[in-house]
Amino acid sequence: MTAQTADHPPGRNWNPDSWRDRPIQQAPVYPDAAQLARAEERLRSYPPLVFAGEARRLRAALAHAAEGRAFILQGGDCAESFADFTANRIRDTFRVLLQMAVVLTFGAGLPVVKIGRMAGQFAKPRSADAEMQDGETLPSYRGDIVNGSEFTSAARVPDPGRMEFAYFQSASTLNLLRAFASGGYADLHEVHRWNLGFVERSPLAERYRDLAARIDETLSFMTACGMTSATTRDLRETDFYVSHEALLLPYEQALTRVDSTSGDWYACSAHFLWIGDRTRQLDGAHVEFMRGVGNPIGLKVGPTMQPDELIRLCDILNPANEAGRLTLVSRMGANRVRESLAPLIRAVQREGRRVAWLCDPMHGNTIATSSKVKTRSFDAILGEVRGFFDAHTAEGSWAGGVHVEMTGQDVTECVGGAHRLTEADLGARYETFCDPRLNAEQSLELAFLIAEELKARRPSATAAASG
Ligand code: PEP
Ligand code: CO
Repeated sequence: MTAQTADHPPGRNWNPDSWRDRPIQQAPVYPDAAQLARAEERLRSYPPLVFAGEARRLRAALAHAAEGRAFILQGGDCAESFADFTANRIRDTFRVLLQMAVVLTFGAGLPVVKIGRMAGQFAKPRSADAEMQDGETLPSYRGDIVNGSEFTSAARVPDPGRMEFAYFQSASTLNLLRAFASGGYADLHEVHRWNLGFVERSPLAERYRDLAARIDETLSFMTACGMTSATTRDLRETDFYVSHEALLLPYEQALTRVDSTSGDWYACSAHFLWIGDRTRQLDGAHVEFMRGVGNPIGLKVGPTMQPDELIRLCDILNPANEAGRLTLVSRMGANRVRESLAPLIRAVQREGRRVAWLCDPMHGNTIATSSKVKTRSFDAILGEVRGFFDAHTAEGSWAGGVHVEMTGQDVTECVGGAHRLTEADLGARYETFCDPRLNAEQSLELAFLIAEELKARRPSATAAASG
């Protein structure tokens, strides 16, 4: 796989370690190189977490989203943590994602591709290399796969052993997710049971119960026609994929393997990997690494992205221009999404680039409160999603999905939503290890509101409205 551009001239070979000759951003400096090398060597000997065939299946599903025939839902923690690792937490996030997917499927009348920011979302890019507290300066926390979040000099030293811990936690999380997805829990007949206890009293729960009742009715009809969970896999199981930012390249390289079927290299740490907005330099290490793996990949697109730069990145990352290979994840901020996105969508259309577009309404809308914690407002998040839809509709492009930071827990991290959380409420259950997440109820509410947008924009709805 070679791209024909000045940054990556033809003939420049790709290897799992060719990123090492490139300038790199956001890389931790490990004090003990020999210890790092030993950890990488052990990781290279461990089994892959996902198979290339699964990544190809996701790529085919994402191609449908690129072509306007599917909608993508990607969600989960900003950062997973070693401390907060329980079956209940994984189950709760999974079930809110299932609920959101059901709501969106109904709204869009289209298949929803489900991807968790789970089972490997540990490494975090930071805006500053150091953090100061009460006059003391220490290296920034870079996610549990790199160092510890406690504000002590010992915790902040990058430790290669953490990569192995992250690998085993990812394996265990993925094992449970696979069991949930195919072991009966995700059976559509269970749709009522996905409602979480603490959301039960909310108006959203009522709305969700109505929708579940309609699904039940449909399922009874299908049973009468002979389509049951026993006979129909799509009722019994769901396809659920995992993803994370491919930030920590020593870890990603160690888990990159040749697929015996195709002979191609695949990153086997997750089905879908993305390049963050801070590490997307044309000649940088992260772009170099990602151009060579066969997985479907994402590229975060922030407000400083220029149209010609975006096209060059498409050339490098998707030289064969295959739908499903590249998903552009826009994260502009609610108040500039329309102006910032329009020229980029136009460039992609003009150049005929076959990509899926995903809206991350979280990372352009982070604000500091008076008590210095970070939050995001539900209205800004919804506003960015609407702006994203508007920009795509105006250019005749398909708004392919949403990417959210959320949790199945009853946290108080984002303000607004049906319960009108305020800044004063944030102290109650502010549990995130990095950015503020939507709680279960806010996530479900967002899904209902997006479903309404999708319904209003369905080609049949537009035709009915104008005819
Ligand atoms: C993230 O998705 O957690 C993230 C850091 O996003 P971005 O690269 O868009 O800032
Ligand atoms: Co984040």
